[in-house]
Amino acid sequence: MIKILFIGDVVSEPGCNTVRNLLPKIKRENNIDLVIANAENSAKGNGISVKSANHLFESGCDILTGGNHSLKRREIYNMLNENEYILRPHNISRLCPGKGVCIYDKGEYSIAVVNLMGQTYLDTNSSPFETINNILKNINTKFVIVDFHAEATGEKGALAYYLDGKVSAVIGTHTHVQTNDARILENGTGLLTDVGMVGPYDSILGVDPKCIIRRITTKMPTRFEVRDCKCIFNAAIIELDKNTGKCLNISTISIN
Ligand SMILES: [Fe+2]
Ligand SMILES: [Fe+2]
Repeated sequence: MIKILFIGDVVSEPGCNTVRNLLPKIKRENNIDLVIANAENSAKGNGISVKSANHLFESGCDILTGGNHSLKRREIYNMLNENEYILRPHNISRLCPGKGVCIYDKGEYSIAVVNLMGQTYLDTNSSPFETINNILKNINTKFVIVDFHAEATGEKGALAYYLDGKVSAVIGTHTHVQTNDARILENGTGLLTDVGMVGPYDSILGVDPKCIIRRITTKMPTRFEVRDCKCIFNAAIIELDKNTGKCLNISTISIN
C-alpha cells in the first residue's frame, strides 16, 4: 500500500508554521510515503514565495501545488521553471512560467501529480477535461493524483467521475473549507471535493472577518489581513493499491 498525505491550502506564515509543527508527527504516525501540499497562499500576503516554498519543503512536503494565486509573486517564476516539484495549474497559458505536472520517483514506483484549475469563476486558458486527457496520454505510471483547484462542487465531482478508473484520486482545493464527502468511486478513483486549509481557525478562509465584512457591506477596496491566531490543519490521507494504483481508502484529518 502507498500512503499519500494531501494538505489543503497553506495560508501565510501561521499556516507554514503549523505545517512545520505538525507534519513530522503526522508522517511518522501514519507511515506516509509522499506529502503534497497546496501552497498558492503560503507567502505572507498571498501567492507563493521562494521563502514559503523552501519553508514547506524543509518541513517535509515533497510536492507543492498551486491555483489562481500561483503567479502573484514574480520572485517565484524562476523557481516554477526550475524546480520540478512546484506546480501551477496546467490549463493556464503555456506562456506562463512553470507547469502543472510532475513525476515523483520513489525508486520502486513513481507517482504523477497533476494540478488543474476549474472554469467556474476562475481564469483558465483551456478545459481541465481536455487538458487531463492529453496529460494522461503521456504519463507512464498507474499512480496519479489530481489537485483540482476549483470553486464549484459540481465541476469537481464532474472531473472526478470523468476520470473514474483513470486516476488514483481527485482532490479539490481552493475553497479553504473541508468537505465531508471523502469516497471511492465505482472504478476505484478517490474523491474529496475540498481538502480545506492550514490557516487561522478563527477567520474566514484565513482572513480576518473584519476585512471581509467591510468589503461585503461597503464594497470598498479592502486589504485582506491574515489573522495571526491558532490554526486549523486540514488534510487527507489517500491509500493506494500498490498493484493497481486504485484508491483503497480516503479519509480526512482536521486538527484545531
Ligand atoms: Fe487558496
Ligand atoms: Fe485558490
